[in-house]
Amino acid sequence: MRYSIFLIFYFILSYSPAMAQVNNVSAPVQVAEANGDADKGRTVFFRCRACHSISQNQNGTKVGPNLFGIFGKPVGSVATYENYSKALRDANFIWDEQQLDNWLKNPNGFLPGNTMAFSGVMRQSDRDDLIAFIRQQKAAE
Ligand code: HEC
Repeated sequence: MRYSIFLIFYFILSYSPAMAQVNNVSAPVQVAEANGDADKGRTVFFRCRACHSISQNQNGTKVGPNLFGIFGKPVGSVATYENYSKALRDANFIWDEQQLDNWLKNPNGFLPGNTMAFSGVMRQSDRDDLIAFIRQQKAAE
């Protein structure tokens, strides 16, 4: 019984992108990279949908700001959102891969006092996929 559980676990692990990264010594696992899979990221985004929409619809404000086009924007700058905490209003950076990774890994550790009631996305590969998806959701150039 124990053995078969181990086998299942091994099976899942060996097919996950995280394992592919672990096996590839040249790819540092802890650093956010532009190597996520946006299609998988769309699925990971289900964890965010209760509070965020990510469509171009300007009325897309839920508990949290609409995240359409957030990649490359300054933190706390979505014009249609009026409930930013002081933590986000006082922060000063652009949402790029690294900042999104810091935020999604541990929102409270990264910007203490924020009001996003979310503990974080634990797996690096999930965060990479999610960030690739968020990055893709922007107006056509
Ligand atoms: C329980 C509701 C909730 C969930 C779940 C949630 N968020 Fe949020 N999010 C918020 C709120 C509220 C804010 C505004 C926080 C503040 O002002 O302190 C926010 C802010 C953000 C911001 C900053 C936006 C800006 O304008 O600077 C990003 C990026 C973000 N969330 C991404 C995500 C992603 C990606 C997920 C899913 C992994 C997620 N959030 C899950 C409620 C949520």
